[in-house]
Amino acid sequence: MAFSISLFLLVLLFSFQSSSSSLLSLNKGSSLSVEKHAEDVIVSPNQMFCAGFFQVGENAFSFAIWFNDPHTHNNNHTVVWMANRETPVNGRLSKLSLLNSGNMVLVGAGQITTWSSNTASDAPVKLHLQDDGNLVLLDLQGTILWQSFDTPTDTLLPGQLLTRYTQLVSSRSQTNHSPGFYKMLFDDDNVLRLIYDGPDVSSTYWPPPWLLSWQAGRFNYNSSRVAVLNSIGNFTSSDNYDFSTDDHGTVMPRRLKLDSDGNARVYSRNEALKKWYVSWQFIFDACTSHGICGANSTCSYDPKRGRRCSCLPGYRVKNHSDWSYGCEPMFDLTCSRNESIFLEIQGVELYGYDHNFVQNSTYINCVNLCLQDCNCKGFQYRYDGNQIFSCFTKSQLLNGRRSPSFNGAIYLRLPITNNFSKEESVSADDHVCSVKLHKDYVRKPENRLVRFFLWLATAVGALEVIFFFLIWGFLIWNLKTSSADQQGYHLAAVGFRKYSYLELKKATKGFSQEIGRGAGGIVYKGILSDQRHVAIKRLYDAKQGEGEFLAEVSIIGRLNHMNLIEMWGYCAEGKHRLLVYEYMENGSLAQNLSSNTLDWSKRYSIALGTARVLAYLHEECLEWILHCDIKPQNILLDASYQPKVADFGLSKLLNRNNLNNSSFSMIRGTRGYMAPEWVLNLAITSKVDVYSYGIVLLEMITGKSPTTTGVQNIDGEEPYNGRLVTWVREKRSATSWLEHIIDPAIKTNYDECKMNLLATVALDCVEEDKDVRPTMSHVVEMLQSHESDPRNIINA
Ligand SMILES: *[C@@H]1O[C@H](CO)[C@@H](O)[C@H](O)[C@H]1NC(C)=O
Ligand SMILES: *[C@@H]1O[C@H](CO)[C@@H](O)[C@H](O)[C@H]1NC(C)=O
Ligand SMILES: *[C@@H]1O[C@H](CO)[C@@H](O)[C@H](O)[C@H]1NC(C)=O
Ligand SMILES: *[C@@H]1O[C@H](CO)[C@@H](O)[C@H](O)[C@H]1NC(C)=O
Ligand SMILES: *[C@@H]1O[C@H](CO)[C@@H](O)[C@H](O)[C@H]1NC(C)=O
Ligand SMILES: *[C@@H]1O[C@H](CO)[C@@H](O)[C@H](O)[C@H]1NC(C)=O
Ligand SMILES: *[C@@H]1O[C@H](CO)[C@@H](O)[C@H](O)[C@H]1NC(C)=O
Ligand SMILES: *[C@@H]1O[C@H](CO)[C@@H](O)[C@H](O)[C@H]1NC(C)=O
Repeated sequence: MAFSISLFLLVLLFSFQSSSSSLLSLNKGSSLSVEKHAEDVIVSPNQMFCAGFFQVGENAFSFAIWFNDPHTHNNNHTVVWMANRETPVNGRLSKLSLLNSGNMVLVGAGQITTWSSNTASDAPVKLHLQDDGNLVLLDLQGTILWQSFDTPTDTLLPGQLLTRYTQLVSSRSQTNHSPGFYKMLFDDDNVLRLIYDGPDVSSTYWPPPWLLSWQAGRFNYNSSRVAVLNSIGNFTSSDNYDFSTDDHGTVMPRRLKLDSDGNARVYSRNEALKKWYVSWQFIFDACTSHGICGANSTCSYDPKRGRRCSCLPGYRVKNHSDWSYGCEPMFDLTCSRNESIFLEIQGVELYGYDHNFVQNSTYINCVNLCLQDCNCKGFQYRYDGNQIFSCFTKSQLLNGRRSPSFNGAIYLRLPITNNFSKEESVSADDHVCSVKLHKDYVRKPENRLVRFFLWLATAVGALEVIFFFLIWGFLIWNLKTSSADQQGYHLAAVGFRKYSYLELKKATKGFSQEIGRGAGGIVYKGILSDQRHVAIKRLYDAKQGEGEFLAEVSIIGRLNHMNLIEMWGYCAEGKHRLLVYEYMENGSLAQNLSSNTLDWSKRYSIALGTARVLAYLHEECLEWILHCDIKPQNILLDASYQPKVADFGLSKLLNRNNLNNSSFSMIRGTRGYMAPEWVLNLAITSKVDVYSYGIVLLEMITGKSPTTTGVQNIDGEEPYNGRLVTWVREKRSATSWLEHIIDPAIKTNYDECKMNLLATVALDCVEEDKDVRPTMSHVVEMLQSHESDPRNIINA
């Protein structure tokens, strides 16, 4: 009964859709009019794209191309191109016409031509939207007179080339489609860059401006200047910036967009849910984009609150609704030496606009340098290691960002009569580290039904009464069947669910099959009632209340990266605290290393994947989340030997009150993998994970575990005394040192260049001085740059 009703409704739906008039092409002499913007739409043959008038404001329209998605509401389409983004046309009397001269013009009210294709042809031409989203003006022979792919706005579609003649320009905000401040283009030196081009200043922020192009893995000798994303998710650029999206390999709708926050992201669409998710982004840290908070401000980021802008002390925000205007001083500074004081703000970095730079400067010298200069607004004083401090005096206070790992402070010049405190006004903001989230959220079934019902009620005039009863029956039937799964999904907003203790007890057959131990709990294998295999961790330490526990768990549950073990749910009942994870058939890296199943290329890709997820969690989620226990037992391998790191965020769950001031009261981690900071009782930063990661790399290269002692070297010459790091370092000075250290299981079958790089990176990561160790995103850059081109030079 229910089936036949839904079939009937479906037929009805189709008959309604076909009655709306969409076009396949536009011929000479015809036009699209803004008043009929709902019907006058050109649709691509595969129904994927639409071109037509798109409403950008009250009574304001632009001619645009967007993804055709019938489920979208409130005109909230995913726009990929716009003809007139600067100058929208009036909602009355505006027209897009294909003239007999062969020119295509957008004429606004008052007969003002707002945009034109500048084409001419005596022969017949037609305007056609291709399946790839390219709007083309063709003549009968199929020659392209004009195409939208030649003038991108902020989006590149698969197959669309970014060339020396084109650039992407972000929009001003998510809702304001006019051109914003960020650009992606090939610079004069052939390198693809992201540039902030603000009202007053402009600067490059990607690749990192302090790196030479070859250090960032870029070629500047290839002058072809072309970049393209393909439909399976590979991006290639002539300057050697290449990547594959996290979900590469399958053809699906994708788009590369320079977003209004200055980051470029690749979005892919989950066809089942019609939802876009981020499958790649150019920048990991939300505060890297310049100008994001305007002048005289700082940007900070944490995953709970997202990105936040705040004014420096003594400054106040200019425009609360738009931080890119920055902050203005609340004081007048005289140039007299004795009327300035300096306010110290730790952990804030200001990039660029250095009036003067002195390496190895004392604090007093730096103060005097600033006081001598009437334009000096303050200075940056940074520790560079080896007892050397650098001094940068600032003529403008731009690109400020807060970063706990930054080893230095700014000293702000303020009038001596001030009483400004370090408390500042703060903004709220949008981007949470969940930009990479692509959990398949559960849709609430009633919503869809109600919407459907409403649509039906208005659409079906005469049959209304009959249908009312039919649908009512359908609704009740459906509600009955869906109430069972709804119950478990009341947490759908965070994408994972709550399990009862009994359910998990049953899944694990009474916690019978133990598969691991450590980091605060025992892990059991289980099978859920829906037949999914899971790993269930039962925490020993259950002091937290349920609310607190839930708050933390829901944040961990929102972390999502292809190289992170996914958490499917949790249980908090009475004193029981359990976490439910996906199950990895291939076991841990530790098991695979001891059974010699990994060749060098698998090891390399495990190294890269692990680095990626650490970079994602360290930098995008800032210092908020450290792993603190990176070791081969915690790196699990999926069916294709891609690594998935387990136990992220657990340190936070288990020891919630001790993370403050980046000092832990209790040593955590595993002997052999622990950074010296733990032992020396120094500040704990993300660099502890970098250290442990370095040890894991050494273990993967040499096949020797840092926790065993007395292992004999392969040649039998030198005894290996358990100090893996010292041993490898000593070998380094020898010629063809790789031969001496590499895991005998790999034999001679390896890419020398890559393994050399891996070993070099590993040794950098295990430097005693945490400030000398690279960050995880730097590690990713190094490993990645080499992945695409073996000739590349490495800055060792
Ligand atoms: C429009 O869509 C985007 C992404 O799908 C979403 O984040 C946003 O909230 C939507 N806005 C409205 C007004 O529906
Ligand atoms: C895409 O990238 C992947 C991984 O880098 C590579 O294995 C594959 O060959 C590439 N495919 C194409 C068509 O370039
Ligand atoms: C320059 O880049 C293009 C496009 O990526 C590539 O086809 C070409 O081989 C490159 N030329 C050199 C000399 O590397
Ligand atoms: C503040 O910013 C908004 C949004 O850009 C703008 O409409 C408004 O005019 C600005 N106000 C001032 C005082 O500049
Ligand atoms: C930032 O502060 C300086 C004074 O320190 C001031 O000259 C400048 O105009 C301010 N910038 C903005 C955008 O208000
Ligand atoms: C600063 O020095 C100038 C001249 O040296 C003097 O006139 C002025 O009163 C001093 N100001 C303060 C606040 O000490
Ligand atoms: C730094 O400066 C101090 C004193 O000016 C000097 O003793 C030291 O050698 C300098 N260090 C370096 C590395 O130049
Ligand atoms: C100091 O603070 C008080 C109140 O907070 C304010 O009224 C006064 O103007 C401030 N003085 C200066 C020099 O800014």
